[in-house]
Amino acid sequence: MKEIKAIIRDFALPKVLDALRDHPEFPGLTVSMARGFGKAVRDPDLNDPPMDLMETPPKVKLEIVVPDHLVDAVVDIICSQARTGRTGDGKIFVSSVDGVVKIRTGERNTEAL
Ligand SMILES: Nc1ncnc2c1ncn2[C@@H]1O[C@H](COP(=O)(O)OP(=O)(O)OP(=O)(O)O)[C@@H](O)[C@H]1O
Ligand SMILES: [Mg+2]
Repeated sequence: MKEIKAIIRDFALPKVLDALRDHPEFPGLTVSMARGFGKAVRDPDLNDPPMDLMETPPKVKLEIVVPDHLVDAVVDIICSQARTGRTGDGKIFVSSVDGVVKIRTGERNTEAL
């Protein structure tokens, strides 16, 4: 199992969610508001991050845990729906997940997704 963590522009969220919901095996997700910055926001002459994080463009963070065979499809959906081609479109991180438990049933791992 993998966790796909995507930081995208807030206004891209509806399109991304619609496309994810259309995937027949899509298991679910968590969405949070997020602020941050990548390399392009920094003044190249400074090592400091922006002084006021709330002046950075609003982002949302998606956290999606999927069986391994769904990683590429989910990443492709997010990329295609969230890309404007301008700096700040966001980033996707994929990492391994060691365990999942569904609290209601006690099911584990892929059975619990
Ligand atoms: N290395 C990172 N680790 C954690 N979060 C990051 C990282 N890079 C970017 N982010 C998050 O992703 C958001 C979008 O990053 P962004 O798309 O601006 O990256 P970038 O590397 O500056 O690319 P670009 O040149 O397209 O702007 C940031 O606001 C921040 O929240
Ligand atoms: Mg940037």
